Amino acid sequence: MSDSPVKIAPSILAADFACLGEQVRACQAAGADYIHIDPMDGHFVPNITFGPQIVEAVRRSCDLPLDVHCMIEAPERQIAAFRDAGATIMTVHAEACPHLHRVVHTIKSAGMRAGVAINPATPLDMVRWVLPDLDLLLVMSINPGWGGQKFLPLALAKLREARALLDELGATAELEVDGGIDLETIGPATAAGARVLVAGTAVFHADAGIGTAVKELRAAAERALALR
Ligand code: DX5
Ligand code: ZN
Repeated sequence: MSDSPVKIAPSILAADFACLGEQVRACQAAGADYIHIDPMDGHFVPNITFGPQIVEAVRRSCDLPLDVHCMIEAPERQIAAFRDAGATIMTVHAEACPHLHRVVHTIKSAGMRAGVAINPATPLDMVRWVLPDLDLLLVMSINPGWGGQKFLPLALAKLREARALLDELGATAELEVDGGIDLETIGPATAAGARVLVAGTAVFHADAGIGTAVKELRAAAERALALR
């Protein structure tokens, strides 16, 4: 674990699943802070990916905290399964949870850290009343469903607003951003207040390789903070 002011969370959505364990270990060796895992159910988002079985495989492959970003309907039904698979943080979408407060507290009672994600069109107001209870707030900078999309600039204003609201409430949730994070966008996202930076394509498809990509992303984020 580094003493960096930012956390880098490689998203295995862009990994080569034929050698997932090896790639996750490369992330750990490069100093990644979390492994970001993206279950999708074909309902909340059109795409289908994977579930607790892959979380369990990653758990056996490295020692890093597992940041599980659930893009699924009724995520409350899967809390025990993700906990048993070894998830450290379980993040649910506010748009998928009419009873968000209950879901957040059920995740915490199950022994995980609780995160809430909001889509690009969703206002921060939607999470205002659970913010003090959260361990992580995820501001999406793409419409979720696929990796490799372009960063939506509206996320910068939303991150600034989220940072201000967290400070105003004295809330300690980590502020995470996900979607289109690369060497160009990581600086602005960090300067806007994000401290957990998710990157899939920019890590696993990098010409320089996974290890160099993780280190360069962290350096770019730290530079942006130093320049503030
Ligand atoms: C997409 C996922 C992201 C995805 C990001 O819905 O939530 O975590 O892997 O991929 P990139 O970094 O390629 O935009
Ligand atoms: Zn994600």
